[in-house]
Amino acid sequence: MSKDNEEMVVTPWEVRGKLDYDRLIEEFGTQRIDEKLLKRIYKITGEKHVMLERELFFSHRDLDWVLDEYEKGNKFVIYTGRGPSGNVHIGHLVPWIFTKWWQEKFDTRLYFQLTNDEKFWFEQDLSYDEVKKHTYENTLDVIATGVEPENTFIINDIEHIDLLYELAVQVAKKITFSTAKAVFGFENSMNIGGIFYPSMQAVPAFLHSWIYGEKTPCIIPCAIDQDPHWRVTRDVAEKLGYYKPASIQNKFLPGLQEGGKMSSSSPMSALYTTDTTKVARKKVMAAFTGGRETAEEQRKLGANPDICSVFMYYDMLFMPDDKELADIEQKCRSGEILCGECKQILAPRVIDFLEKHQEKREEAKERIHEFSASRLRDDIRR
Ligand code: TYM
Repeated sequence: MSKDNEEMVVTPWEVRGKLDYDRLIEEFGTQRIDEKLLKRIYKITGEKHVMLERELFFSHRDLDWVLDEYEKGNKFVIYTGRGPSGNVHIGHLVPWIFTKWWQEKFDTRLYFQLTNDEKFWFEQDLSYDEVKKHTYENTLDVIATGVEPENTFIINDIEHIDLLYELAVQVAKKITFSTAKAVFGFENSMNIGGIFYPSMQAVPAFLHSWIYGEKTPCIIPCAIDQDPHWRVTRDVAEKLGYYKPASIQNKFLPGLQEGGKMSSSSPMSALYTTDTTKVARKKVMAAFTGGRETAEEQRKLGANPDICSVFMYYDMLFMPDDKELADIEQKCRSGEILCGECKQILAPRVIDFLEKHQEKREEAKERIHEFSASRLRDDIRR
C-alpha cells in the first residue's frame, strides 16, 4: 500500500506517495478549474454538479476552448475509458458518473474505450481469458452508470481493431521510442505490445473526426493519472490534421485504508461494484479514520476529518448536501460523534449505492449490443 511519506509518483500505471494536486497541475502543465470557468459551465448546463463544487474535478486542458466552440454551435464528443484488469471499484466510477452528466447536459456522443490489449500487455499475470471476462464484466458497469445508448459507443480494442487500426498506425509513426520512454518511463525489458499501446489510447480522441470527415473537438473526463497519454496525443493531433483533445480531470478517490488512492492492488481498501452487502459493510466498518485512541479522548478532544477516509467518502460521493456535510464535520471535530457511529451512517449509503448499481448491471446484460461500437462500421464504409 502507498505510504504518505513516499515520493509522489503519478503515471497511468502507478500512483503512490502523498498526492499533491497543486504540484501535479504545475508538473503536468494543466490548468486549474477556477471560479470563472465553473460559472461558465453552470450557465450552460443550468445546474451545479457536486463533483465540481467539491473540487473533485479540479484540473483541465482546453476546457474553455471546448466551451467556446460549443457556444459557436460546434458540438464536441466525449471520450473516456477503462483498462479491464479486474473488477471495477467505485473510484473508477467517479469519471464515469461525471461523464454521464456531461453527456446529458451537452447532448453529445460518448466514445468509451475498453483497453483489453493494454491490460493483457501490462499485467504479466493476466491471461487472455481473464482479460476477456473482465472486459465483459466492466462493460456492464459502464452501461449501469446510465449513459445514453443512442449516443454511446463502447469500443473493445481487440474486437473493434478494424475501427481503430488505420488511425493507430498513423499515430504510432509520429511517436518515437525516446518520447515514449521519457513520457511513460518505458524500459527495455517491456514487451513490445506495451510500447505500441499509447497509440491505441490516442485513437478514440480522433475517431469521430476520422469517421465523419469533420474535425470535431473532443473532451476527455478522467483522473489525472491518464494525463501523460493526452500530452502525447495532443502532440501528434495537429500533425495528423485533428484538434488536440481537451480534458477535465479528477482527483483520486482514496482507499478505505490509510494512504493512497483506491486501487485494486489493495482489495480491503477498495469497494468493488460487485461487493456483497456483507463485504461492503465489513470494509466500511474497518475503514481508517481520524479518530483518537480512546472514546473518552475523542469525546474530549474531537477527531480529525482531514485525514479520515470516511469523511472523504462523504465529501466526494456520499453526502451531496452541504449542510449535512458541515454538520457531520462539526460533530467530528468537537467529539460529539465517534468514528463507529459515523461509519454506521456511511455503510447504508454505500450499500444502497451498490445495490442500485448492481440492479442496473443485471439489466445491462441484455443490452450490450445497443452500446457497441460495432454500429460505427456502417458509418465508415459509407
Ligand atoms: P483505469 O482502468 O486504470 O481507470 C479507469 C478510470 O478511472 C480513473 N481512476 C480513478 N478515479 C478516481 N479515483 C480513483 N481511485 C481512480 N482510479 C482510477 C482513471 O483515471 C480512469 O479515468 N488506460 C486507461 C483506460 C483508458 C482511458 C481512456 C481512461 C483508455 N482510454 C480515456 C480514461 C480516458 C486505464 O487503464 O484506466
